[in-house]
Amino acid sequence: MTATSVLITGASKGIGLTIARHLSRNNYKVYGTSRKPDQQLAKENGFTMLALDLNDPDSIEQLAGQFPEGVDILINNAGQSQLGAFEDIPHEAFQGLFETNFFGTLKLTRALLPGMRKRGKGLIINTSSLIASFPLPFYTSYTTSKAALSAFSFSLNMELKPFGINVVVIEPNDLKTTIEPELFLKEGSAYADKVTKMREKVRTNMSKSQDASVVTAIIDKLIKSKNPKPKYVVGGNSNLLIFAKRFLTSAMQVKLTMGSYKD
Ligand SMILES: NC(=O)c1ccc[n+]([C@@H]2O[C@H](COP(=O)([O-])OP(=O)(O)OC[C@H]3O[C@@H](n4cnc5c(N)ncnc54)[C@H](OP(=O)(O)O)[C@@H]3O)[C@@H](O)[C@H]2O)c1
Repeated sequence: MTATSVLITGASKGIGLTIARHLSRNNYKVYGTSRKPDQQLAKENGFTMLALDLNDPDSIEQLAGQFPEGVDILINNAGQSQLGAFEDIPHEAFQGLFETNFFGTLKLTRALLPGMRKRGKGLIINTSSLIASFPLPFYTSYTTSKAALSAFSFSLNMELKPFGINVVVIEPNDLKTTIEPELFLKEGSAYADKVTKMREKVRTNMSKSQDASVVTAIIDKLIKSKNPKPKYVVGGNSNLLIFAKRFLTSAMQVKLTMGSYKD
């Protein structure tokens, strides 16, 4: 029997590396990606590292070309973050983040889909963020790129179910990784004080957050499930937050969010 193949984008560190290591230890045939593939790191962790830059269409095409028959499981994990007032983030930078977190991911998924569809089975896991359900100030580009990915996953889920392909979105709360948002702060910015405080608050929250390994339990559950849910949340109090959201008006959500991030 051939091993189940898994392609994980952004497997050089953080959540992606954690999943890649976990699945290769459990006898999956794992392919990870990085913009600068470190073969030694991949070898030490039992998987194969391939090149991928989601902001480069040729790189996406080259990667997909190595999987003409698709893969059993595609985990779209790679992503980046930005922090800054909307006014201070240049349009090109905002678009660049969408290219990494959203459009690049779409391009790779589209390129792999024909092969997966022909197999008549498959699983696509998109890593969004809890921020998609709980937007934060000074994270407009990150929030919207992840909200787009979550909505895309829901829509694609319904398109692909008849073909035996499950599409799932995972929205993690803060998890301890080295992810660091790119900071945008114009000289003399009217938001300087608030953005700096937000950065400190986010760093503090991250330092207290759970280890990225909590994601592996969800991944195991998803892979084993014949009929996974369209969305899973993971990390900290994420399940409680999603439950509480049912009873919150939008005004209450804004008030609570601003309250927990105030100076
Ligand atoms: N950690 C959290 O608290 C948290 C919470 C919610 C959601 N998430 C999401 O979870 C995913 C993983 O986050 P993480 O915390 O593990 O981040 P991380 O430690 O910074 O890892 C990010 C990964 O993405 C890859 N990557 C970045 N830009 C890329 C690009 N242009 N093309 C291809 N690959 C690229 C990086 O690979 P190279 O640099 O080697 O190319 C790296 O392997 C992201 O989508 C993130 O938004 C994280």
